[in-house]
Amino acid sequence: MRSAKDFFRPLAVGAPEPLREVPFRPSRMIHFFDPGNEKMAAKIPALAPQVDVLLGNLEDAVAADRKEAARAGLVAVARSTDFGGTQLWTRINSLDSPWALDDLVTLVSEIGDRLDVVMVPKVEGAHDIHYVDRLLAQLEARAGLTRPILVHAILETAAGVAGVEEIAAASPRMQGISLGPADLAASRRMKTTRVGGGHPGYLVRQDPPQTPGDTPRLTYQQDLWHYTIARMVDACAAHGILPYYGPFGDIQDVTACEDQFRNAFLLGCVGAWTLHPVQIAIARRVFSPAPQDVAWARQVIEAMGDGTGAVMIDGKMQDDATYKQCQVVVGLADALAARDPELAEAYATADKAARR
Ligand code: GLV
Ligand code: MG
Repeated sequence: MRSAKDFFRPLAVGAPEPLREVPFRPSRMIHFFDPGNEKMAAKIPALAPQVDVLLGNLEDAVAADRKEAARAGLVAVARSTDFGGTQLWTRINSLDSPWALDDLVTLVSEIGDRLDVVMVPKVEGAHDIHYVDRLLAQLEARAGLTRPILVHAILETAAGVAGVEEIAAASPRMQGISLGPADLAASRRMKTTRVGGGHPGYLVRQDPPQTPGDTPRLTYQQDLWHYTIARMVDACAAHGILPYYGPFGDIQDVTACEDQFRNAFLLGCVGAWTLHPVQIAIARRVFSPAPQDVAWARQVIEAMGDGTGAVMIDGKMQDDATYKQCQVVVGLADALAARDPELAEAYATADKAARR
């Protein structure tokens, strides 16, 4: 085991100092694009101000004979685009693929100073993160980088879920973890054929009526991902990193997409992947606390003074624990408002209305 004293030491001579805290930067939507697709790449400058994170995808959905074009395309996009306050991430190919090594070597050497986070797919345990951690340190040292590139793991193997706590704790580079429902379903041998979302067959049925009759028994569709998301959120929160819902593949079903994103938000996730522009507005709406909730939270914080004791507001009991919940909501709202002027205005308006 690595000594706790060494945890924040660079893993290669000349590599930047590891961070002690994951910087909280808005990442409500991690918008995926194929950098080898010239039409898509041309839209990036216009897209950048609309999203919190742009992610150049090199892995699944990029055909084997397009891998090199995607990697070269990402280098070109990163060099030629002014991203403003938008983060640039990439998803490299899986560590057992023929492309992962060149992905890391090329990207860190060529655009390491522009890259905020490397998303690593199909992570099976802390050993995968340790491998990437050391390699990134060597490459950063060689490229003369002054700030460490962070690492994000996709939770999409059964082994990964079984070891999610050790993955979250594996390195000070760990920025966060996303649910990868499509690969996870395959890895677990689930019998679905979808990318995220529910399934009509996964349900609970009401008890039979006490007296025989023809009252139909209601069924309630259940959430296939509840257990995994809750476990991921706990692992992330315990280790000070950020949890995300991953992809929702039914682009047309904006309602179910919004529901899945909202469940994840309420459970503690800070964002989701967006695979199509239509999902960007959904993620912005869902992962920004509602203005009336923020106004309420501010009211509670004010009424609670130093945060101890208990007060009643509108017949609802508030104490230290609700005070802390309200601080989470207000802290997030303030961080998002600093980047999103429209949201800042909505929060100010709701706050004024609540004080009237
Ligand atoms: C994402 O990569 C997934 O497999 O769901
Ligand atoms: Mg996957």
